[in-house]
Amino acid sequence: MQSITPSTEPDDRLFVIDCDTGIDDALALGYMLARHGDRLVAVTTVFGNVSVAQATINTLDLLAVAGRPDISVHTGAATSLDGAFAGTAHRVHGTNGFGGVALPTSARQPSAESAPAAIVRLAHEYSGRLVIIAVGPPTNLAIALSMDPSIATLIDEVVVMGGAVQHAGNATPVAEANIWHDPEAAQRVFASAMRVRMVPLDATMRQRLTAADAAQLQASSSATARLIGEALDHYLGFYEDVFGLQECALHDPLAVAVAVGDESVLHEARSPITVELANGPSRGATIVDLRRAYHGPVAVEGARNRVVLRTEDDFGSRLVAALLTLP
Ligand code: RIB
Ligand code: CA
Repeated sequence: MQSITPSTEPDDRLFVIDCDTGIDDALALGYMLARHGDRLVAVTTVFGNVSVAQATINTLDLLAVAGRPDISVHTGAATSLDGAFAGTAHRVHGTNGFGGVALPTSARQPSAESAPAAIVRLAHEYSGRLVIIAVGPPTNLAIALSMDPSIATLIDEVVVMGGAVQHAGNATPVAEANIWHDPEAAQRVFASAMRVRMVPLDATMRQRLTAADAAQLQASSSATARLIGEALDHYLGFYEDVFGLQECALHDPLAVAVAVGDESVLHEARSPITVELANGPSRGATIVDLRRAYHGPVAVEGARNRVVLRTEDDFGSRLVAALLTLP
């Protein structure tokens, strides 16, 4: 098994989180603020778990509770590129995207600059240093690429939470939700000249939180951790109803932890990622070439894309510890 441990090299990378906030998106934002908040230069929002308008409200409110109203928030795509989907996933995330828990309302407005425009500007401003962590449908990135194709070589890396390789899908039998919600955008991103790392369900379904973790967050002295802990009750209920699990998966926060280099990657493949775009039962599937996996770590010649298949166990405890340090 190939193991990639977090780098100890000096790291001057800066980050944008592109999200459809969302309970696990809130976990991802909370983790980033707790561990590397000084390197989060903007948050961009997209439709998905909720409408883009609700995702923007949730993001502004959460950043305010966490004491970071200075981080700019940019509203992005309201629908998939084909216009077919605008959200939502109420059963998973509740009608407000935060498990029905009311966040204190922030008076702040989002930036007048759109999410794709912000991505283009920041890619130029921080050439070679910018990492985009896309934890919703990757529509904003696809639009940004069509606005300015030169960003493909200016952005250091894109980390996409999405896809299912050897794991079942969660939106359809084969498709993961972020890719299923905009397969055309995902295909454009994976096929671009960008360095893209995908963190699929194969890795994220292994990392979990329990009701005891939620209770610990709810009992903490951190207002942000308490609110996230309360929202987790809804998310845990969904996992129990649908998957029969007593735990919930940590999709978006794991993608952030991998992107920033906090988590060791135990198994990764280098392979092109192709998204099935046909309107059949496989639409939204992510195809990765693991045919040579029995020989050892897969590295398809010339492949730019990387696929994280497994990370170190017990990320949940590290996530809880990080959230407890928030204001
Ligand atoms: O499939 C999991 C992903 O879909 C996560 O990003 C979750 O927030 C939803 O967007
Ligand atoms: Ca998400």
